[in-house]
Amino acid sequence: MARIAIFGAGYVGLVTGACFADLGHDVVVRDVLPERIEQLQVGELPIYEPGLEEVLERSSDRISFTLDVREAVTGADFVYVAVGTPPTYAGDADLSAVWTVIDELPDDASATIVMKSTVPVGTGEKVRAALEARGLDSVGYVSNPEFTAEGTAVRDFMEPDRVVIGAFEDEDGDAVEALHTGIDAPVVRTDVNSAEMIKLAANAFLVTRISFINEIANVCELVGADVQHVATGVGLDHRLGPHFLRAGIGWGGSCFPKDSLALKQLAANSGYHFQLLNSVIEVNELQKRRVLQKLERHLGRLRGKRVALLGLAFKPNTDDMREAPSLVLASRLIAEGAEVRGWDPVARPEIQGVALCATPLEAVTGADAAVIVTEWPQLLELPTEEARKAMRHPLIVDGRNLLDPAAVRALGFAYEGTGRRISPTDVLPEAAEPELETSE
Ligand code: UGA
Repeated sequence: MARIAIFGAGYVGLVTGACFADLGHDVVVRDVLPERIEQLQVGELPIYEPGLEEVLERSSDRISFTLDVREAVTGADFVYVAVGTPPTYAGDADLSAVWTVIDELPDDASATIVMKSTVPVGTGEKVRAALEARGLDSVGYVSNPEFTAEGTAVRDFMEPDRVVIGAFEDEDGDAVEALHTGIDAPVVRTDVNSAEMIKLAANAFLVTRISFINEIANVCELVGADVQHVATGVGLDHRLGPHFLRAGIGWGGSCFPKDSLALKQLAANSGYHFQLLNSVIEVNELQKRRVLQKLERHLGRLRGKRVALLGLAFKPNTDDMREAPSLVLASRLIAEGAEVRGWDPVARPEIQGVALCATPLEAVTGADAAVIVTEWPQLLELPTEEARKAMRHPLIVDGRNLLDPAAVRALGFAYEGTGRRISPTDVLPEAAEPELETSE
């Protein structure tokens, strides 16, 4: 069994560390945030990730947490880099945290560096050159990108579709492959640049699928088709598959927005205009704003109207608010003069101008519209007679097609899904006319 130092105690670093410990390796996780390390040392989790606590408990004698670089690196066979690579103002990936890890390595380091963080293609070559310039020629370098999704990260790590390993030297790749003994998955062995590109291309392809189905949904609304049925019919083609065809309010999160932007910039910096990816990103920006048009169609001008945003995290089963569509919606609604209430079962974000509520019912009380932004299963219970009576206008805009339109309408709500047939009876007569400015 190997000794592995993991740099970065975020979603990726903690899941990687916990799962490697579960596979029997000795793991030390190092982070720069004292409060984060203190929490972990007393068995508290700084993030919400289903299943992670159990894995950590199970392997607690094989995993430790430290602020100290030397403590982490001493005796380590591998140094996994799992730090954040957020976008810079220019849209490129900000690699400063990655470089800090490389620069902090002691001069006598001998462990193999394994890059888990998502980095632009060419990063491995730059790190290799920097190591050689420091005389650390014997330090190996391997790219081992992650494909875990938040909310299912532990399962995704333990039962992945594939493990990708890009190495400069075969024996370094072999050693990283051996770390994954116990995981039953195809292993893709390749060069470092290709491994880096696999990660970026996979995420770019996934967002392309979502933006594609979102545009199909938008056309469905105009021509009277139902995107749910369309996605089922399309996804059953084995060449296309059923995944990532859920139409909605747009994609967000800690990875898709930054990785698609980083690939777009990488291409542009290399002299290529990635037209398709540019459109995919633009479609997503517009998608987040379409809810406003739907609300206006029902309510007229939004000034003074109360809107409940239900589900704030970028997707269910996470507390992560990074690039959450709810943030764009809230600020657009506030800019239009609407009063915004928010509810989420886990995320407690401070969004300026948004009053957080303890329950969906509290959020919709007195509201002119309820918008399902994130498909938390709790919201399946939303359409009740009590909720309808509590609302000023019983309108549900279902940004995730969570609810059954017929059942919701039968309860007396006006309902608008995404890419679903719009019922003419849904438009509330008293609110449909845009309010006219009156000059007194
Ligand atoms: C994503 C990828 O799914 C992982 O494979 C990848 O490892 C990870 O990014 C990463 O690069 O670290 P994640 O961001 O956790 O994982 O979440 P997803 O479940 O992929 O959802 C991302 C966004 O797409 C969410 O806003 C979700 O609502 C949206 N989405 C997803 C749709 O709108 N429709 C779909 O059909 C699927």
